[in-house]
Amino acid sequence: MKRNLFLLALPAIFILTLLSGCNTKTKIGFLMDTTSLERWKKDKELFEKTAKGLGAIPIVRVADSDPNTQYKQAVELINEGIDVLVIIPVDLVKSCEIVKAAHAEDIPVISYDRLIKQCNVDYYISTDNINIGELQADYLSKVSPVGNYALISGPTTDNNTFLLHLGWLNILQPLIDKGDINIVIDKFSNFWLPDESYQLMKEYFKSGGKVDAIITGNDALATGAIMALKEFGYDGKVLVAGQDADINAVRNIVAGIQTITIYKPIESLIFAAVDAAIKIADGHAPSNLNITVNNGKKLVPAILLKAQVVTRQNIKMTVISEGFITEKELN
Ligand code: GAL
Repeated sequence: MKRNLFLLALPAIFILTLLSGCNTKTKIGFLMDTTSLERWKKDKELFEKTAKGLGAIPIVRVADSDPNTQYKQAVELINEGIDVLVIIPVDLVKSCEIVKAAHAEDIPVISYDRLIKQCNVDYYISTDNINIGELQADYLSKVSPVGNYALISGPTTDNNTFLLHLGWLNILQPLIDKGDINIVIDKFSNFWLPDESYQLMKEYFKSGGKVDAIITGNDALATGAIMALKEFGYDGKVLVAGQDADINAVRNIVAGIQTITIYKPIESLIFAAVDAAIKIADGHAPSNLNITVNNGKKLVPAILLKAQVVTRQNIKMTVISEGFITEKELN
């Protein structure tokens, strides 16, 4: 009789086993600021591909740079039952509300690329952004150790903006103190987009200003500055640094109107984030944590990867050999 009951129960056991098998897939929420810039499109694609490849379920939302939208999207994902949240915060402090909401449901939070400040975020995965600022300033100041420099930062809602600026000054301050370098512009933008840097440089040139080097927070800001340089016939005569290795920026480097960009290893960063998310969901600590970073509230365990300078000379050895950009795309 017992044996018969067992046989009768077999289909149910089979179905339950299948269902519990489905449940073991980790659901990873990925909250993005924007996909309007090329680099974030790459992050999105790679996140979805990598998460699926590692057997997890990616759920992505894009806030279009609105912190309130990002909060609402976080609540949606929490209600959808995500196990871990990876977030590119729109706002470095407002996103603490998201961390609190996730923690209320025992969902760990990984701050991706940009650090969330002043709260108990669980992990941080990014590049060494102070070092990126140093790489930019070091390269330009070696080429032009004397002259007028313009510094164009991104928004103050992004912690990376401050880290980059710190890196720039780490290198430039001694030269400023010597009187060799003169900072003629030092401005933040509201968005990581070209318009404001274009207007800023245009007004500066209109008023008769001269500049030898422009260091910007990303390639979109660099592109805006280059638009103004073109209008005044200064393109190719002024050093320009950007960041992200956007295809347009790399083309400008080939054309000799942008000096450098910075290549962040996005594939490795995304892999690190997805891998960490899966490990945390399984109750383990992420592997490859290599530093802790103070966010004003705690020392956040972090993985910081190295970025590289891309120049006209090393395009093949960097972005092309890494498969980030193809030669075909460049032509
Ligand atoms: C920053 C990031 C930069 C750039 C920028 C534009 O946070 O560090 O690499 O992508 O956002 O969105």
